[in-house]
Amino acid sequence: MAEYKLKVTTGDMKHAGTRDNIYIILFGAEGQSERAKLDNSGIDFKAGKTRMYTVNTGSSLGKLLLVKVEKDPFFIFPEDEWYCSTIEVTTPEGDAVVFPCYRWISRGEFVELRGGKAMTVFEEEHSLLIEHRKKELELKKSSYRWEIADEKLPHSCHFKEISELPAEIRYSLSKSKEVQHTKRRIASELTFKGVAGSQKKWKDIDDMKKIFRSKKTTLSEYVSQHWKEDDFFGFQFLNATNPNVIKRCSKLPSNFPVTEEMVKPFLETGTSLEREMENGNIFLCDQRIMDEIPARVKDGNPLYATAGLCLFYQNPKKKLIPIAIQLHQQPSEQNPIFLPSDSETDWLLAKLFIRSSDQIEHQAVHHLMNTHYLAEVFAVATLRCFPTIHPLYKLLIPHFRYTLHINIVGRETLLGPGGALSESSLGVEGLTELMRRALSQMTYGSLCLPEDIAARGLESIPNFYYRDDALKLWKYINSFVEAVVEHYYTSDSNVCKDSELQEWINEIFTHGFLKNKLSGFPSCFNTMEEVVKFITMVIFRVSAQHAAVNNGQYDYNSWMPNGSLLLCKPPPTTKGQSSMQTVLDVLPDVGDTVKIVSTIWILSDKYTDVVPLGTYPEEHFDEPALKQMIKEFQAELNYLSEEIALRNSQLEVPYPYLDPALIENSVTI
Ligand code: FE2
Repeated sequence: MAEYKLKVTTGDMKHAGTRDNIYIILFGAEGQSERAKLDNSGIDFKAGKTRMYTVNTGSSLGKLLLVKVEKDPFFIFPEDEWYCSTIEVTTPEGDAVVFPCYRWISRGEFVELRGGKAMTVFEEEHSLLIEHRKKELELKKSSYRWEIADEKLPHSCHFKEISELPAEIRYSLSKSKEVQHTKRRIASELTFKGVAGSQKKWKDIDDMKKIFRSKKTTLSEYVSQHWKEDDFFGFQFLNATNPNVIKRCSKLPSNFPVTEEMVKPFLETGTSLEREMENGNIFLCDQRIMDEIPARVKDGNPLYATAGLCLFYQNPKKKLIPIAIQLHQQPSEQNPIFLPSDSETDWLLAKLFIRSSDQIEHQAVHHLMNTHYLAEVFAVATLRCFPTIHPLYKLLIPHFRYTLHINIVGRETLLGPGGALSESSLGVEGLTELMRRALSQMTYGSLCLPEDIAARGLESIPNFYYRDDALKLWKYINSFVEAVVEHYYTSDSNVCKDSELQEWINEIFTHGFLKNKLSGFPSCFNTMEEVVKFITMVIFRVSAQHAAVNNGQYDYNSWMPNGSLLLCKPPPTTKGQSSMQTVLDVLPDVGDTVKIVSTIWILSDKYTDVVPLGTYPEEHFDEPALKQMIKEFQAELNYLSEEIALRNSQLEVPYPYLDPALIENSVTI
């Protein structure tokens, strides 16, 4: 007789336990156990509890290879899924092997777990494990399939409804309940005030402050007080939700005929536009990507979104201020260049149109496509191409938690009928066209932060906290990824030999970047350095970059006069004709305003079921060296968190979005 001791741990989140029967089979190099029911007295699988079991076999099974876990399909109570964290098996020889599971298991489902050290395919020797690896990948490829909804956008996973999602990748019950709670709270507040669906126009800008009295942040209050100020307008292109568009300008675009005379009053005495461009103090936001995308018609009335150009000057006080705005790409008499010396409302309107288009581009391109959709591509490729024992699966999978779930919800609620993005000036068709254009122009360099900052000439612009924090995060993520990759791939030839890794990058190239060779995205890896860079980009994008574009939405975008996804009147074509009434006419009506603000509230609310960047409560890696690397990564992030807190305490407008403590490991909302 040989005795195997099992230590079975159930996850500690709410509802993780089960009353269903659980069966287990152990597979060793020299045989397998009987199918054994794990049954002690009382409830066996309670949330957060570890229980011990014994499995007896006729003789030792030799080296322990696999553990098969099965959930009884026939239990009489309603389904209650089980979240199994780990199963640790101590063999008769005294070896303890941890088999990480970390997933929900549904009734009738079984999982086969591999334990111990992470293994690449070229290291695999045992025939049972080689066969298991092959079968696991076949199963994964049939469970997670690519769907092409639009030939010119990143492909998605084939699941259409939340109910179709395998338990292992669905929101936890507690997360679902919290999101539902926020939605109910918003709905009851709006119903109470009778503003939901109201087609009335705002009579006074200050009335908007009454919409959500219970949901105010220090920054949203600040925005509602400072939105008219030029230096705050400039500040937002560096440190609000879309720090991704502004570029240094050394030569004016030919379609933006700003003259020295126009801007002279706004530059320091004795200097010129030409000289300031040479000195690197002039910056440009060019929205040409939106040119000629038709806006939609709402209830018979056209909506508006412009493709403007805005020139900024970084003045000697280190403030970035707008000095000229043109609201359409083609210069003409009906398309004047607005200046800070124009009437207050002309200049306000010009800034409002620029901010509104910036918000549309932010939501469609920099938020939805460049984080959510790409995260889904990376997630699906990882789920399909790597077996769970692969080191890069273990490294990456925590960074895709809840991503497929939120993207299904997003497609349904934001882009579905009545969704906040469908109701924007461009509507679903316009936003889709915008994303198609952005993807066709996307380069690998633009997703790699240090290259992007350099390409936009923003290395030295002062008070650019997004850049300062993001570059440090990139560096820390990069060192962590480098340490992990170098631990498993000791040479470039190992990278070439890893057929699973090569298939992974090829699927991403095909389904994410649509085989666009000019983009510079890799379709295969030849060196360890290439792997490190790409995985750094993936982790940075789904954690830090998503936090930067997602978490400040309520702060900056809930005050509609600071920019709205929907504008109801055309931009001014002549100067001196506008008033505050024109600004109110341009802004969305009461019902549309509250719809947009409600969505932003849900997207940037704080939920409790979060996993901050660099924390890995699920221990996929068993090796002490890897645990040490994670500790070092966490220490660097903690240090950065303290540094950012200190910096923010000295700022009038803090930049909290890239504080590692507030960044999630993955795109979850
Ligand atoms: Fe998001």
